[in-house]
Parts: sequence; C-alpha cells; structure tokens
Amino acid sequence: MKQGTWYKGITMLAVWLALTAVPLAAQDGSFKNGQLWPDTEGKHINAHGGNILRHVDTYYWYGEQRPDRGYTMDGGIAVYSSTDLRHWKNEGLALQLSAEPGSDIERGCIMERPKVVWNEKTQRFVMLFHLELKGKGYEAARVGFAVSEHATGPFRFIRSTRLHAGRWPFDMTEKDIEAAKQTNAAAWTKWWTPRWRREVQKGMYLWRDFEGGQMSRDMTVFVDDDGRAYHITSSQENLTLLVSELTDDFLDFTGKYNMVAPGGQNEAPCIFHRGEDYWLICSGCTGWDPNEARMFRSKSIWGPWTQLPSPFTGIATGYRDMPANKTFGAQGTFIFKNDTTYVFMADIWNPRHLSRSLHLWLPIHFTEKEVPVIPWTTETP
Ligand code: GAL
Repeated sequence: MKQGTWYKGITMLAVWLALTAVPLAAQDGSFKNGQLWPDTEGKHINAHGGNILRHVDTYYWYGEQRPDRGYTMDGGIAVYSSTDLRHWKNEGLALQLSAEPGSDIERGCIMERPKVVWNEKTQRFVMLFHLELKGKGYEAARVGFAVSEHATGPFRFIRSTRLHAGRWPFDMTEKDIEAAKQTNAAAWTKWWTPRWRREVQKGMYLWRDFEGGQMSRDMTVFVDDDGRAYHITSSQENLTLLVSELTDDFLDFTGKYNMVAPGGQNEAPCIFHRGEDYWLICSGCTGWDPNEARMFRSKSIWGPWTQLPSPFTGIATGYRDMPANKTFGAQGTFIFKNDTTYVFMADIWNPRHLSRSLHLWLPIHFTEKEVPVIPWTTETP
C-alpha cells in the first residue's frame, strides 16, 4: 500500500470511529441514559432483557449475554452484582448453555428476557426465561425454568415447556369456550382484517394451541406482596398476554391462568403493584424497533385490566431526540422497586450488535391521582 493511501485509510477510520462510537459513561458510576454503561472492568454491561433482584445487601442484574453478531446465544444468561446500583461487577454466567447436543439449551438456541426471583419457602433463586430451540427461529415459543442456591449461579436448567396444554383460562365461561371451539386458525390466510381480529378475541389461537400448549415469548415474573408469583407472557402469536400463577416453589404452573387484552398485540410486559393498583406497561410488537408503550391498570392480578395512555412524556434530549411515543427508542424489560422508588428498566436495542444494546433506567413518577408518568431523564436515578 502506498504511504498516502495508508494515511488516508487511518484518517478515514478515525473519522468513522468518532462518528459512530457511542460514548462510554464515566467510570465514577454515574450512568447516562443513551450511553454505554461500563462494568467495574470498563466493559459495557452485556445483560439485556433481564431484571434486577435485591438480595440481602446486594443487587444482582441478570440478562441476556448477547454475542456481538447474530441472534443466537453463545454463552448464556449473565449476572452482575453491585452494592450501590452504580458499580457493577461481572460475575460471569448465571446459566450456561449446555454442551450436550439435543439439549433444549444447546449452543445455538435463543434465550431471552430472563427473570430471577427469590423463593422464600425453598430458599432458592429461580430463573424463568423465554426459550427458542436451536434451528427453529422463534417457533418453539417456550418458557425455561432453572434454579440455584446462589444468586450468581450456577443455575441448573430444569426443563422447558409450552403452557397449559389441555386447559382453559379459569375465567372463560362455557359459552366462551364453545365460541373458541368454533374458530379455525388454519382457515385464515389473511391476518389483520376486522373479522380475523374478532376471531382472535374469541380465542382462535388459544384453541389452535389448546392440545400442544400455549406459546410463550416475551415474559416477566412478578412476586406479589403475599409471596405468590405470576408469569406474564406474550402468547398466541404475540397477540394476547397470559397471566399464570406459579406453584409455591415457582418451578411450575398451578394451572390457573387468564388472558389480558386478547388481540391487543402487547409484548415486553413489565409490572408493579403499588397501593391498590397493579400496573402493566408493555410495548407493541415491532421487533427490535421502538414503538409506543401501552399501560394497563387493575385492582387485581386477574383483571379486569383497563387501558390508559402511555405514561411516557417528553423527548430524549441528548439521545437522538427520540420522542415519548417511541418510548425514547427503548423497549421495557422490568420495573424494579428499590425501597419506595420504582424504576422502569429498558433496552435500546442495537440489532446489528446486540451486545452493545444500551440500557435505559427511568424513575416512575405519579400524578395526584396516583397514575404513573415517566419523563425522559439523562442521568439515571
Ligand atoms: C422483540 C422482543 C425481543 C426479541 C425481538 C426479536 O419484539 O421484545 O425480546 O424477541 O423481538 O426480534
């Protein structure tokens, strides 16, 4: 290479890096939304779609450890620890992929949206996650269960499953069940028409998957004040949410479940309980692209849920000026309660380099009528 060309190449590379690089937030522990967040070794925190669990005096942050390229897993579920929510130590993999060919969690599978909760009765940490089997794209739509005695793992994979094979939601009447049985998903080649939507609301995909079990993709786990845990998931081709009660050890479903917003196309469910109200904040379904969040309120985990406008307000100034009606460019993953503060945690996905997807933490404010409002803020709480 001629010297001039070499020099030009280096200059162009420097300019390209300057233009494309996302700044790394200061290592003093002050994170800025819309920037890379370094762990205690200075590397961006690679834990996405996950949650934070406070146990004794330590916070644990679990999430998808994403490869730099591609969508399938090459490691597993990551865990970081912190005592101040600012300095995060990489504790490695909480749940590792299996080396055994044919295992549900073999290399090449997709694990998403892991949630770890503490079970007081069994004194175990329980992880539930969305699992897609190797080589099957997103068609398996299963939930995986894993358990550990230690917060940082290793978690032992127990099994993966679809949901509620052969069971109807507990609140469907005989008449509702008869109507669902009259539907026929195979007959609908054209989606999104008003007639198709009515069939979905009657339970067309619930009936289609009745024998084999219901689909489960984006999901969360919620432990209520009485210690009961619930799995909330995007089911029926991401069209309908299901709320399902977990057994006392959190390692199975009791069989009690119902539907939320049939046909509403909600995913990325995040939930919290405050005073008399349960609040559910979800996204629409546009893959890695941001969209407008949806919010629901109920007096009981079993509904009825009433839809309210999106709680997000303002513009993500300093971060690509993304507006509230695009959830500031992010998609929710968890609402973390720290003492009396509720923090909405979200991912700003970077599908070309998923490991470099950014994090967004926004404190939830409340109106005089106790309705959540989530304004943009540059500094994390
Ligand atoms: C999103 C979902 C992510 C991931 C992605 C794949 O809608 O929230 O968890 O599944 O789609 O395209």
